Formats: sequence, structure tokens, C-alpha cells
Amino acid sequence: MKRTVYTLAGLIVATTGGFAQAQDLAAGKAVFDKFNCASCHGADAKTSVDPAYPVLAGQHADYLIQALKAYRRGAAGAPATANVRKNPIMGAFAVQLSDKDIEQVAHWLSAQPSDLGVRK
Ligand code: HEC
Repeated sequence: MKRTVYTLAGLIVATTGGFAQAQDLAAGKAVFDKFNCASCHGADAKTSVDPAYPVLAGQHADYLIQALKAYRRGAAGAPATANVRKNPIMGAFAVQLSDKDIEQVAHWLSAQPSDLGVRK
């Protein structure tokens, strides 16, 4: 009986965890669409309209989060240091993103198939 309860509890944790993750990914895609990130980075986040626009698909989420927050700090007037990115284009977008937007879009981007990072 005890074992059945533990198995059931494990199943519930596993399925709700998967559901929460799927929801977060959908929310991340919604952020990407809302700010029209595709207009530069491409609809698949890797076929950008200009070679100067980096590939985002498949990049590590923590790297993307760090980068977006660094643009936001740069746009907020922080002096240029290793932890601050001064870029007029991305700064203008990053200031519009909340921490949650950044985390969600980063996780969606990192889940997209790409040759960057771990092959998916
Ligand atoms: C008008 C074009 C444009 C749009 C729209 C745009 N970006 Fe960018 N993005 C750029 C450019 C240009 C760079 C490179 C800037 C630099 O040299 O630091 C960049 C860089 C980035 C980087 C850093 C990647 C790396 O490898 O360091 C991230 C992350 C990013 N963009 C995410 C986004 C997200 C998310 C959106 C939508 C909210 C978005 N971008 C919208 C042009 C754009």
C-alpha cells in the first residue's frame, strides 16, 4: 500500500512538472511573438535576417537570461563593464521585458532545435 502511494505521488509530481514546463514554454513563445523578436532573429530563432543577429535557438537558457539582463542594465544607464551590454537595438527590447518574460523566452529559445549547444 505504502509503495502504491509513493508511486502515485511520484506520478503526480512527474506529470504536473511536465505540464508546468509545457506551459512555461508556451509563455516563452508568446513573449517571442509579442515583441516580434522573429523580425530580426527569424521565426525559428536561428534563421536571422542579417548575419549580425545572433542565433538564439538552442543556446543555453542561463546564457540568454544573462545576456538579456545585461542589455537591460546597459539601457538603464549602467556603465559598460563585463556584466553590462550597451546595444541600442537589444537594449530597447530588453527594457520592456520583465524578469519572468526573460526567463520564459530564454527557456523556450533554448528548447528550439539548433546546432548550437547540445543537439536536440
Ligand atoms: C531590430 C532587430 C532585433 C529585434 C526585433 C530583436 N533583436 Fe535580439 N539582437 C539583435 C541584435 C542586432 C543583436 C546583437 C547585439 C549585440 O551585438 O550585442 C541581438 C542579440 C540578442 C541576444 C544576445 C545573444 C547572444 O548570443 O549573446 C539575445 C538573447 C536576443 N537578442 C534576444 C532577443 C529577444 C528575446 C527579442 C524579442 C524580445 C529580440 N532579441 C529582438 C537584434 C534584434
